Amino acid sequence: MTSTIPLLIDTDPGVDDALALLMAFNDARHSLVGLTVTAGNVGLQYTVANTLKLCEIARVQAPVFAGCDSPLLHPARDAAYVHGRDGFGDTGYEPTDRRVEDEHAALAIIRLSHEHAGRLLLVALGPLTNIALALKLDPTLPQRIARFVVMGGAVSAHGNITAAAEFNIAFDPEAAHIVFAAFPKIELVDWEAVLAHGLLHERVDAWLRADSPRARFYDSISRQTRAWSAERRGEKWHSADALAMAHALVPAGTLKVVERPLAVELDGRHTRGATVVDWQRQHGGADNVAIVMRYEQRRFEQLIEAALAVV
Ligand code: BDR
Ligand code: CA
Repeated sequence: MTSTIPLLIDTDPGVDDALALLMAFNDARHSLVGLTVTAGNVGLQYTVANTLKLCEIARVQAPVFAGCDSPLLHPARDAAYVHGRDGFGDTGYEPTDRRVEDEHAALAIIRLSHEHAGRLLLVALGPLTNIALALKLDPTLPQRIARFVVMGGAVSAHGNITAAAEFNIAFDPEAAHIVFAAFPKIELVDWEAVLAHGLLHERVDAWLRADSPRARFYDSISRQTRAWSAERRGEKWHSADALAMAHALVPAGTLKVVERPLAVELDGRHTRGATVVDWQRQHGGADNVAIVMRYEQRRFEQLIEAALAVV
């Protein structure tokens, strides 16, 4: 019998985070060792409550750790206008009795990296604040991580929160700078890859008609976001964190990866939070990112459909 891969997810649910988590819950090749939560899409009180609620709906027992409630240095605007004021579409869902662990998320990341040293798959679906803090507490963290997948950035500066920057990086550029400078090779799923892997709304609607508690809950919490997206972006919906999770869980579906040096812009008047890729390798930096350019669309969609259908 082959053993499962330990999986630790740092997240800020968030509608697309929730879909990514459902995909992870449905993957038998990985065992979820924890969910560390950060502020991002909405405030920490909501992202923690949403994580616990999703675990209750999915009947998953993973420990949930609350982390940072703001970026390291500068306050940032959240994404409630996309995800709803509570981050889950303002459905007024019944709060869960489940409780968060006492340990801080940054400490949990360090502890779990020791417990699963050399095997841990770390996936970051939100701003990188918790992971930057963990790195400051223990700079040896990268040595114990087998793979680190990050959803973030816009590798040719086609941003979604500003002209040049993507939300997760722009929310806490200093944290992102610390993280990208410390890890030797981050597997990056950026916003531009997400735009290239849209999901037809009519197909998503069909998956959400599955007779399962997960599909029913996801249908309700994502309704507002999907309507917002349909109005602005047309016939396809873009689920950033779900694409990152597809690559993390099933890297065999990844069709094209490009390795390059990447730095985070901290000072730019128009470009703070931009992920600057040295495409021509002009400055001698190490290739610290493996950028996912293309993923099998069919496999991506199958993973989502299967995750929603679980009864
Ligand atoms: C990212 O920002 C958040 O709004 C989403 O959850 C995703 O992680 C996309 O830019
Ligand atoms: Ca997210």
